[in-house]
Amino acid sequence: MTKEEILKDLKTDTFGQTIFCFDTIDSTNLYSKTLSKTKAPHGTLIIAEEQTAGRGRMQRNWVSLKGKNLLFSIILYPDFIIEKTALLPFAGSLAVCDAIETVTGLSSTCKWPNDVLVNKKKVCGMLLESTTENASIEKIILGIGVNVNQEEFPEDLKYKASSLKNESGIEINRITLLQKILEELELRYEQLAHFPSSQLMNDWKMKALLFGKKITVLEHEFSYTATAIDVADDGRLIIQTDDGTKRSILAGDVSLAYT
Ligand code: BTN
Repeated sequence: MTKEEILKDLKTDTFGQTIFCFDTIDSTNLYSKTLSKTKAPHGTLIIAEEQTAGRGRMQRNWVSLKGKNLLFSIILYPDFIIEKTALLPFAGSLAVCDAIETVTGLSSTCKWPNDVLVNKKKVCGMLLESTTENASIEKIILGIGVNVNQEEFPEDLKYKASSLKNESGIEINRITLLQKILEELELRYEQLAHFPSSQLMNDWKMKALLFGKKITVLEHEFSYTATAIDVADDGRLIIQTDDGTKRSILAGDVSLAYT
């Protein structure tokens, strides 16, 4: 994948207009942290064919076969209130969901806080990281991994993860998909910046499979079952535990499984 191929026909103002392309890198998120604002302005795309130290949420690895998928980070300099930055995972997963549907025709769903599923299997994960300067957030790095044309998955992931090719039966054009994701991301970012949070969150909820479902919440080493009730406009998941208590949980260190 080259810069020229990505830029050709890309319909965005800023997202993906500055690009750093790599064949192999440790992690696009790690590299993004080293770039200055002058070198990498808002919306810069860092993309690689392969990562040797791809990182996932909760200190997990993100493993992906070379040249088959999309592995990228977008650098953001949010100019909106800090509360809204907590909603970037929702903007991200909604953008990927919409792009997948447009490009592949597959219907996809969002899983709290920021996974995208097709036929209940994970096809995309996101890792948001931030750097701080003088105790305030300087930049946010939105790292996205989409399983596009990979056909084989390790034994332990086989029933939980899939790719767009496996689910649709056809090879997907990675550049077309990336361009659509960048376009949708820019739109969702603008929606978050200029409209009440409830607008984005209502759109996200329409794509979520969660509500009314029994879930297992894994909080650090501790797990329990509950029912998912709603997601609040600040991004917290509202659950009802089996003894009837209502609680709201933050995405941070929590992972969910449908039971
Ligand atoms: C998860 O679901 O745990 C998040 C996975 C995020 C993976 C992407 S791939 C591109 C970017 N660089 C990384 O090292 N991680 C993210």
